[in-house]
Amino acid sequence: MLEPVRITVSSQDPRHLAKKEWFLSQPGCQWSPAAADPSLTQPCLSITSKGVYLSYQDERLSFHPSMALLRLMNLYRGLPDRYLEATALQKGDVLLDATLGLGTDALVGAWAVGKVGKVVAIERSPYLAAIVKDGLLHEIQVPRVKNPEKRRAWAELKQAAVNIEVHFDDHFRFMQNLPSSGVDVVYFDPMFRRTQDKSSSIKPLHLWGNPEKLSPDAVREACRVARKRVVLKERKESTEFVRLGFEIMPGGRYSTVDYGIIKP
Ligand SMILES: C[S@@+](CC[C@H](N)C(=O)[O-])C[C@H]1O[C@@H](n2cnc3c(N)ncnc32)[C@H](O)[C@@H]1O
Repeated sequence: MLEPVRITVSSQDPRHLAKKEWFLSQPGCQWSPAAADPSLTQPCLSITSKGVYLSYQDERLSFHPSMALLRLMNLYRGLPDRYLEATALQKGDVLLDATLGLGTDALVGAWAVGKVGKVVAIERSPYLAAIVKDGLLHEIQVPRVKNPEKRRAWAELKQAAVNIEVHFDDHFRFMQNLPSSGVDVVYFDPMFRRTQDKSSSIKPLHLWGNPEKLSPDAVREACRVARKRVVLKERKESTEFVRLGFEIMPGGRYSTVDYGIIKP
């Protein structure tokens, strides 16, 4: 993991300074002393008026809900969303997103379960957990756009974000403390398959996320805590589905990924 991480604040704006204090208090993060080497080779979290960024060398990563926004707008137009088909989330469900990442799936899931439901999201990288937690609270502002569909999507995402509870933890350890059938759906979208991925939009996540394979123990625990189903997203034709006992959901002929399901 990249650490320790230097924190920089672009101005003495009290809101930025308060945000810095908030980041300093987040669990699991190893912040380097203020007078650390300011060279670009040190990983850094920058708090600026344009947002919060994690950077290392020439890679930069920040929380942004744009992909979730796009998916919501497609749903309004009646287009299917394979993640929602695979998870079969209903209003009022509790979803355990065991691999939060940058929070796109968690947001779409929180939208689907509505105000009466909830998303509990687990992330093993303390820096990703912190930047997404901050982003969900502060980076979703309904813009003054003319397009009513877009305004509606922003407003619904803002509402959905409130229903996501972010935890920095290992998902196996977290699930061990949950009661049997304590949630409706457990969702895994591990990094493993993406280690071969050269795409620049995915690459920065590699620097910060945990690249390990999903463990059979974690899947077993997920089957214990999920009342309705456990879902795995993986590369098409991945041997992970067979290794971990998931049945592949039909469809997605032109997609590069598949969804596997276990009904406990
Ligand atoms: C591919 S990303 C998930 C992307 C996410 N679905 C989204 O929509 O942004 C996988 C994430 O799972 C996290 N992760 C991997 N193993 C984990 C574990 N054992 N416990 C918790 N999080 C884990 C990684 O750190 C990484 O951030």
